[in-house]
Amino acid sequence: MGIRVSQPAYIPIADALSTTPAWQALQSALHHLKIAKPRIANYFSQHPDRFEKFSLSAAGILLDYSKNQISEEIRTLLIQLAEQAGMQQAIAAMFNGELINNSEQRAALHVSLRSPHKVTVCEQVVHATLNQMETFVQQLSSGERQGFDGKPIKDVINIGIGGSDLGPAMSYQSLAPFHVEHLRCHFVSNVDPAHLASTLQTLNPATTLFVIASKTFTTLETNLNAQAARAWLISAGCVEQNLARHFAAVTTNTELAVAFGIAPANIFPMWNWVGGRYSLWSAIGLPIALGVGMENFRALLRGAHAMDEHFHNAPLAHNMPVLMALLSLWYCNFLGAESQAILPYAQNLHLFPAFLQQLDMESLGKQARKDGTSLDITSGSIVWGSAGTNGQHSFHQLLHQGTHLIPTDFIAVVESATDNGQQHQHLLANCFAQSQALMDGTTLESETAQLRMQGLSEQEVATLAPHKVIPGNRPSNTLLLKKLTPESLGALIALYEHKVYAQSVLLQINAFDQWGVQLGKDLSVNIYKALTAVEQCTAFDASTNALINLARV
Ligand code: F6P
Repeated sequence: MGIRVSQPAYIPIADALSTTPAWQALQSALHHLKIAKPRIANYFSQHPDRFEKFSLSAAGILLDYSKNQISEEIRTLLIQLAEQAGMQQAIAAMFNGELINNSEQRAALHVSLRSPHKVTVCEQVVHATLNQMETFVQQLSSGERQGFDGKPIKDVINIGIGGSDLGPAMSYQSLAPFHVEHLRCHFVSNVDPAHLASTLQTLNPATTLFVIASKTFTTLETNLNAQAARAWLISAGCVEQNLARHFAAVTTNTELAVAFGIAPANIFPMWNWVGGRYSLWSAIGLPIALGVGMENFRALLRGAHAMDEHFHNAPLAHNMPVLMALLSLWYCNFLGAESQAILPYAQNLHLFPAFLQQLDMESLGKQARKDGTSLDITSGSIVWGSAGTNGQHSFHQLLHQGTHLIPTDFIAVVESATDNGQQHQHLLANCFAQSQALMDGTTLESETAQLRMQGLSEQEVATLAPHKVIPGNRPSNTLLLKKLTPESLGALIALYEHKVYAQSVLLQINAFDQWGVQLGKDLSVNIYKALTAVEQCTAFDASTNALINLARV
């Protein structure tokens, strides 16, 4: 069946973003910047109120974007660019349930998953599912749900991949201080059997429940791991008729879940108006609800809803996700940045960069605009990062002295998750010092003077000083959360979801499909056949043939 591709009505420009007046104005502003070479640090000396003018709060999160390479003039032009890209209409279109995922003819209604209202059909099925989840959570916490030998379930393993893994795993990890005592959650995604095997090593089959999380229920990795889980239970003495006690599923594909042997009462619905990477708020979040309790899961939804309200209603000039999207576009398309670092200074958020990689790169890694024409500007960037302070002792060297421009998002939490105040203050001090060092850098003059003061010879000074120069003027945002709670985490995730959507609107691409991942999956089918065949492989290119023949068992 062919897919009908509708022209989204809300894009008021027929032509590419690069032809808008705001884009042209930004180009000429850039020309002046290249001549004047302003430094971020100078903006602060010229405008002592820069922090007030370049920061805002929403849903309990403060965004300080004052340490960026933008003047007030550039910001004004960027906001005009958002207006000319039809940002306001596009935001409304998402909240109204229009088919903004036009290549798949679907709405993208993840905001309905955290709506407190029960008005629309979507909202009604969402609340019914939340109630189903609540009952399940209660049954596990009361010990009513038992494994094959009558003992209560103690461990839950989520088997899923991509959006059916990263969001739940990251949220569960981020909310470590909120974990319930009676249950531990684990996450298995990789088709490499080592992942499941290492997870099962310390677990008791009789008290372990598997949640098979797959929107489609056709994902190879998930299906193979689910089968291996079933085999593990059987080999531990679980008879066929007791297997259903150990499985639940979250899927749009009830038929396949039932065929696998999951009891219909343990199947939680998903809907095709929710994209995989936007799905942690649905029953895909079941392991989060099991792991931190339903009240905390509902608090996560509340935090996200608060950010939804902000994104929906705030004017563009004061709209946090829109401003972050504009900054990303500015760096990628005008200043030549190719990547963006995400550095949470909170150990519990260490999976956040990996979660964002899928959210951002699977959404914005596109080369065709929504109408099928080629994108003539740079798509989304490479997202990477890890928890601070660890990165300071590894890759921050490149941030400070490498030749790349890498805009960075620092995420800091004011109140510690644990009680050790002193260590936490060191964590914050290091976070703020990094953004300051990236901005200020050091000069050849000051490094030379310092080395002279240390008594080095002129020749030694001349050789050593250039190595110590840190160019500075490297941009960063700082996001400040009061405390890492279910609410603030919900708001933080929703902030980035909306940042990604706003960026897709600017780029005029569809943030909600992922056709690019298909080819590799398809090719692997024939390669698997060749790998498991008796005869030598000659069907592919010489490299692939050789690799297959070397790896054939
Ligand atoms: O391979 C990409 C992808 O389709 C993601 O978009 C998705 O989150 C993941 O696979 C898992 O899909 P499913 O939930 O259908 O198993």
